[in-house]
Amino acid sequence: MPSSTPKDASGEAAQARPGDPCVFVIFGATGDLTKRLLMPALYNLLANKLLPDNFAIVGVSNVKMSSADFRKQLGDEIGQFATTKVSPELWKWFDQRISYVSGDFTDPATYQRLKTELEATDKLHGTPGNYLFYTAVSPSFFGEIVKQLAGAGLTNEPAGRWRRVIIEKPFGHDLDSANALNREIGACIDENQTYRIDHYLGKETVQNIIAFRFGNGFFEPLWNNNYIDHVQITVAETVGVEHRGAFYEATGALRDMVPNHILALLSLIAMEPPNSFESEPVRDEKTKVLRAIRPFKPEDVRDCAVRGQYGSGTLDGKPAPGYRSEERVDPNSDTETYVALKLAIDNWRWSGVPFYLRTGKRMAKRSTEIAIKFKVPPALMFRQTGVRRLEQNELVLHIQPNEGISLSFSAKVPGPVVKLGDVDMSFKYSDYFGAAPSTGYETLLLDCMIGDPALFQRADTVDAGWRVVDPILDAWKANPAVDFPNYAAGSWGPRAADELLECDGRKWRQS
Ligand code: BG6
Repeated sequence: MPSSTPKDASGEAAQARPGDPCVFVIFGATGDLTKRLLMPALYNLLANKLLPDNFAIVGVSNVKMSSADFRKQLGDEIGQFATTKVSPELWKWFDQRISYVSGDFTDPATYQRLKTELEATDKLHGTPGNYLFYTAVSPSFFGEIVKQLAGAGLTNEPAGRWRRVIIEKPFGHDLDSANALNREIGACIDENQTYRIDHYLGKETVQNIIAFRFGNGFFEPLWNNNYIDHVQITVAETVGVEHRGAFYEATGALRDMVPNHILALLSLIAMEPPNSFESEPVRDEKTKVLRAIRPFKPEDVRDCAVRGQYGSGTLDGKPAPGYRSEERVDPNSDTETYVALKLAIDNWRWSGVPFYLRTGKRMAKRSTEIAIKFKVPPALMFRQTGVRRLEQNELVLHIQPNEGISLSFSAKVPGPVVKLGDVDMSFKYSDYFGAAPSTGYETLLLDCMIGDPALFQRADTVDAGWRVVDPILDAWKANPAVDFPNYAAGSWGPRAADELLECDGRKWRQS
């Protein structure tokens, strides 16, 4: 257990500043994201005194209802989805600041009504014309909404005011569509008004990767191909596709998880130290390392990419259906629900160090972690003992759940015979920092309200991510899978994923 509460280097607690006065406009205000994540995150920001006094929410959606009905709906939902007990007093604060505009996202008249509503809101709540537009809608509307906002004059930034747009994921469907979307948005607003969100970057454990690597003296000197044998990134989920069958059928595990979440983890692990903590140097380095990933040729896809789809199985002792029997899924679907990749990064630091990535639905256990496997030392001095081989030291960043970091190494087993055993040192976030209730969106929303884009994806980062994935999408499209389903729900994925490492003399870490 920790002996004392950690302090920052100066010994003082750093204070976050509240967001700028603004109106938070939610497109898709009656949808799932709003009730499950956005409103609970805004509530947590208010509870932590991180919302400005001059603040208001305007919901926009095509459902016909009045502002009073919308307030009532949000009020009913917050109790269900908040991460903490809702205080009636704090909710009243929101209730006085919420209004609603109904209309079709493709109809210019909707944006004229929104403009009128925003002018009234500015007068009523003293919000000085700063607007944050959040696109919690189907991806087919991202470009359209930005175009319509610009057409209505709502994205111009008059002196001293800001207008920002948060674009949800998925950003594009492949390289071409992502670049087309970037062009469409870029024709209407500047890059510095564009906040492409990846909720993985809102996770404390993900943000901690930079602090861990560059705020400590003893890991970074070992962080290269002299000492590291390989890296494994696992994002395993036990959930299936839930009610998102239609979305998932058109998306699949590769698009859903790799160009965004998993490459975000990889870029933080593999990037060079930025020369400051400011947003652009950090984003430059993240993009640079993604660009250094060796592009897949068609034959590499065969050798270095594995896809899988779950069949029926057992999870937590209960029967779980196969993917093809899920709601709104084609009974002959060849959509992948699992992917494993072996990537090479062609730069001085990582030359010769493979990065193995895997993600899947309906796996044995929920676990997101990054394992750094170190090279073994020469075993020479142990040759006259019973020690036959040395194990790789392993550093594991546990991203979720059971957030923490552990380091395993060998130690002498007490006794007269020289024998080595694996031991573990571990740090748990909950022991040191407690577990603040959070949705993971709080930091991202606050950062957008204060104009800090560091945790959002830049256009060139999105481009670099899709460049990694695109050749795999093409190869898989040209050669549909013939062995699906090839792993049982509740297992660790297809056999071919184990072989991907076995043929290099390695194996996946048991999460
Ligand atoms: C989303 C994906 O972006 O991330 C989902 O669309 C996935 O399919 C989810 O389940 C995982 O997020 P988290 O935070 O639960 O790891």
